[in-house]
Amino acid sequence: IRDTQEQAAQYIADYIIKRINAFAPTAERPFVLGLPTGSSPLGIYKSLIEAYNQSKISFQNVVTFNMDEYVGLPRDHPESYHSFMFANFFSHVDIDSKNVNILNGNAPNLREECLSYEAKIKALGGIELFLGGVGSDGHIAFNEPGSSLASRTRIKSLAHETIVANARFFGNDLSLVPRMALTVGVQTIMDAREVVIIASGTAKAPAIQQAIEGGVSHLCTLSCLQLHPCSMVVVDEDATMEL
Ligand code: GLP
Repeated sequence: IRDTQEQAAQYIADYIIKRINAFAPTAERPFVLGLPTGSSPLGIYKSLIEAYNQSKISFQNVVTFNMDEYVGLPRDHPESYHSFMFANFFSHVDIDSKNVNILNGNAPNLREECLSYEAKIKALGGIELFLGGVGSDGHIAFNEPGSSLASRTRIKSLAHETIVANARFFGNDLSLVPRMALTVGVQTIMDAREVVIIASGTAKAPAIQQAIEGGVSHLCTLSCLQLHPCSMVVVDEDATMEL
């Protein structure tokens, strides 16, 4: 628990830098990093960029896999997760774009797209560290309440609560928010060797309470982390309100 959102973000950025540097990745043995979008990780990306500018970290031998992407939104739409990641992180560091993996929500065969994403993760030896946020309904990636805890990368229809929460990125017009997304599954995240979650603000407090103090449940998919051997949830004071 950190006092503020900024401190929580800084803590995670420092942690990721430490992990990547200790791993000493090479082209043959890259560090495989899972990444989220949303407003919560913005401070982390900012701190990572700062650290890169101060030569404290390089992303040259880092391979990334993003958690999710909207279905049907053009890749160059400003609110696509593809655009988000390049605008807020990838364009500012030395990552090779061929090492960036983001699900293609416009692939001709979405099922095939999901299967090959899983295969690619597996071929690289799995994800070393998966960074994530949490939705106000307790979802991790886009694993909405009711998602199987054994789920893998697939197509998911978004919960009404998520559509309402994300409308702020679409001029508060609910009709413009995509209804479906491709998302890594709960099990895809559980397979990562380490999972780190950031959450801040009172809006996330009920989800944090359910995930940490409630039972393991598919109705709050973040609660899966209770079963993970190496996971960490970093929050600001506001997100602890219900604990
Ligand atoms: C979306 C993403 C999630 C993210 C959540 C929270 O639903 N698919 O991965 O955790 O938003 O977003 P924010 O950080 O903006 O509250």
